Amino acid sequence: MRVVSSLLVAAAAASAYTTNSQLRLAYHGDDGMMVSWNTFQHVEKPIVHWGLSQYRLTNIATSNVSITYPTSTTYNNHVLISGLQPGTTYFYKPTPLMKNESAEVFNFTTSRRAGDNTPFSVAVVVDLGTMGSKGLTTSAGAPVASTNVLQPGERNTIEALESSLADFDFLWHAGDIAYADYWLKEEIQGFLPNTTIEEGAAVYESILNEFYDEMMAITASKPYMVGPGNHEANCDNGGTKDKAHHITYDSSICMEGQTNFTGFKNHFRMPSDVSGGTGNFWYSFDHGMVHFVQLDTETDLGHGFIGPVEDGGSEDFFGVEPVNATMNAQTTWLEADLAAVDRSKTPWVVVAGHRPLYLSDSGAICPECKDVFEPLLTKYKVDLVLSGHSHVYERQAPLAEGKEDPNGLENPTFPWYITNGAAGHYDGLDELPSSRQPYSRFALDTFNATYGWSRLTFHNCTHLTHEFVASKNGTVLDSATLFKARTCDQGSKHY
Ligand SMILES: [Fe+2]
Repeated sequence: MRVVSSLLVAAAAASAYTTNSQLRLAYHGDDGMMVSWNTFQHVEKPIVHWGLSQYRLTNIATSNVSITYPTSTTYNNHVLISGLQPGTTYFYKPTPLMKNESAEVFNFTTSRRAGDNTPFSVAVVVDLGTMGSKGLTTSAGAPVASTNVLQPGERNTIEALESSLADFDFLWHAGDIAYADYWLKEEIQGFLPNTTIEEGAAVYESILNEFYDEMMAITASKPYMVGPGNHEANCDNGGTKDKAHHITYDSSICMEGQTNFTGFKNHFRMPSDVSGGTGNFWYSFDHGMVHFVQLDTETDLGHGFIGPVEDGGSEDFFGVEPVNATMNAQTTWLEADLAAVDRSKTPWVVVAGHRPLYLSDSGAICPECKDVFEPLLTKYKVDLVLSGHSHVYERQAPLAEGKEDPNGLENPTFPWYITNGAAGHYDGLDELPSSRQPYSRFALDTFNATYGWSRLTFHNCTHLTHEFVASKNGTVLDSATLFKARTCDQGSKHY
């Protein structure tokens, strides 16, 4: 009885934070969809009912994966639906759900078959935090630049993506998800009520819950493909400073469950098992005429380099361990993955990693990442490399070893680089140095005071457009098209 009553108390406390089931989808191989959602209780057998008609959910997918971690108020349920047709809309309903969604039927569309040359768009964000009263809103603590808060009534990036659901097939979020590790910074700055360090674990989890609640408006119907960023690592934001009291906190304040990417590992099931990758950290997938690759710039760089947030790395987040025990596992995988791409089927290869290899703000560049990844990205003629980490937008030139491709965007040999960390979070945008790198082509920073997301449009096998879309009004503030001279496979069809 004692156990039951304490569970009830925990659930009641948790319900103050979580109002929905945080449904989120992820592509899985060429015939699968991973359905993930959260519940207050452990679920013996999570079930997804699914079918081609919302009135006939005659199929059932189940699993025994209902997992939690210390300090979490919820369980993460993961169920894979397999045997699906490509590019097809299915209806689904997980069970059990939180009470308020139990009557709804949701839907998703599966990935386009590799080789399908139908044009499509993808939404990309990096550094997207919780919106509203726990994150980015119309006010912030005193040190936050006045240009970085939202104007009253201003649409934020999560709302912008929700209103643009018809414009993209899936959402790619290459790290820095929710910014729950800002809990102490937000308290010190007087934005959130003060708690003790011990009570802070609940604040951290409440920010995570708020984020996934907000994202469900997008991620219940659009696959949400994610990668690791430094703000997933632990609870102390790389060393939160209380300047007034001359205190710098370190990760010893983090409780079990709030270190070593634990929340990130629990919340997602990215398709690494079907692409030879590792966990939610690195993996690849095909979608239509594109091969997409997610890299891990935080851990496991290999070749003698310790990832920036690993114990002993340049940012030294205590308690972060490599995620793969094999030496040089990530680059060995990356080379094999890129070498195996059939460019007649997926002519485009697009790579995302959290930290930039090139940026006018040189302090945000990850030189170790550049050392290990760039030779492979260049060798295998990757078309586009996306990043964030710095809270700015900068479109760069096609580059290799710092040298600009003489062709620019007109059939370059070198990969094209774009950094967009301007999606928005509690303290907003960063400043770029006024003197930009010669390879910088267009940039926005805190002085432009504009949050936005990236829309990638694959027109055919030769033309790809990147746009920076302002969240507040949908205006395209920057647009550039990459041309690659290649013959589109006549055998490929619109399916
Ligand atoms: Fe970051």
